[in-house]
Amino acid sequence: MSTAAPLSSPARVLVVGGGGRENALAWALTRSQGVERVWVAPGNGGTAELEGCEQLAIAESDQEGLLAACREQAVELVVVGPEAPLAAGLADRLRAAGIPVFGPGADGAQLEASKQWAKALMQDAGVPTAGYWPASSREEALAALEAQGKPLVVKADGLAAGKGVTVAETMEEARTAIEEIFAGRFGGEASLVLEERTHGPEVSVFALTDGERMVLLPPAQDHKRIGEGDTGPNTGGMGAYAPAPLLDAAGLEQVRQLVLEPTLAALRARGISYRGVIYAGLMLTEHGPSVIEFNCRFGDPECETLMPLLGPELAAVLLACATGRLDQAPELSIAPLCSACVIAAAQGYPGAIRKGDPISSALQPNASLQLFHAGSRREAGGTCLTNGGRVLAVVAQATDFDSAFEKAYTGLSQVTFEGMTYRRDIGHQVRSR
Ligand code: AMP
Ligand code: GLY
Repeated sequence: MSTAAPLSSPARVLVVGGGGRENALAWALTRSQGVERVWVAPGNGGTAELEGCEQLAIAESDQEGLLAACREQAVELVVVGPEAPLAAGLADRLRAAGIPVFGPGADGAQLEASKQWAKALMQDAGVPTAGYWPASSREEALAALEAQGKPLVVKADGLAAGKGVTVAETMEEARTAIEEIFAGRFGGEASLVLEERTHGPEVSVFALTDGERMVLLPPAQDHKRIGEGDTGPNTGGMGAYAPAPLLDAAGLEQVRQLVLEPTLAALRARGISYRGVIYAGLMLTEHGPSVIEFNCRFGDPECETLMPLLGPELAAVLLACATGRLDQAPELSIAPLCSACVIAAAQGYPGAIRKGDPISSALQPNASLQLFHAGSRREAGGTCLTNGGRVLAVVAQATDFDSAFEKAYTGLSQVTFEGMTYRRDIGHQVRSR
């Protein structure tokens, strides 16, 4: 029998970050049982307008500022949204001061922050993933490429804000990608992995974990390309839906057994107590699921898509992950609905973007329709201005995907800003109209 005190919900929660993901997290936490107050640092125009939520003008990189705010506001749980502060050790700093954090320490964040480290861990754990060759010099990388004699996928080792991967079609393209990495395009000491190319549809799986146990969220389907028909350059994600039918309950269970359990065991074997979310980017190949990448955070816009499906136990579950007591958490209820998310991006995205345009919205959110802000900021007078590549996320839920997307696109037609860009075909895989 456990002697630990019964688990309660945190009343005072701080969300770190300022994107659409953090707007969705803050929104879901304000609706969670037992939560009285949510702070977001630094937040955006959407969190500035969120009832029950207060903005803190503290950068996600300012560990001392965030720690001081936690002490001043008696914060009981910190939820860290983005990968950069996790890789920089924010969770370690706050935990050392006794504050529960949902998000791994710098050791666990290497799952995302170092492709070499993550690939080695997957290999040790027997997790299905494409064959790879690590290299720490230009010569070593070029030699490995020539030895394989075929265009490999080239991945910069460190955090590259989604821009570190080249799926080369030709040897020349692969060589150029290698040269760019060692020319210092991604900063710091360059290293990379070359990877065998795999084929199949992609899907995102999220496991909330306390380092021992896990709760899986419905699988989500992202849309990475800027253009309709999945064409054009890669973006952070132009829309998403969940649950992705590509992975049914049996498929998700297979991912738990083949990928997530062995990964957690390998983390523990390295002495890492991973408390946060593991985001597995999977490719469903003809031989089964294969890990394309791990991230140490929620996906964006997958997070916006998933949060409205989760029940009011969320804050208690995240606290239980943070404190290593997921076995004592209430069961996280997940609505058996289809969730659809469409991103409105700034003109020019994913290249040079327009910024500073007023956002106007007549959208009335309701129980099954949400408007989250990503790249926006609120001026002193109260006007929201565009302030990033992905500006807004409109999310809707219904009993089928056709209705959910219809609702989301109707919502989107009620918001506007100069140069607003969006894909009309998000969810094409699951829509009949
Ligand atoms: P990332 O920037 O890590 O999200 O990767 C970008 C995209 O590159 C992924 O979503 C995949 O579509 C593709 N990709 C990454 N690794 C591979 C691989 N081994 N084989 C084929 N495509 C890949
Ligand atoms: N939507 C992809 C990501 O968050 O990396």
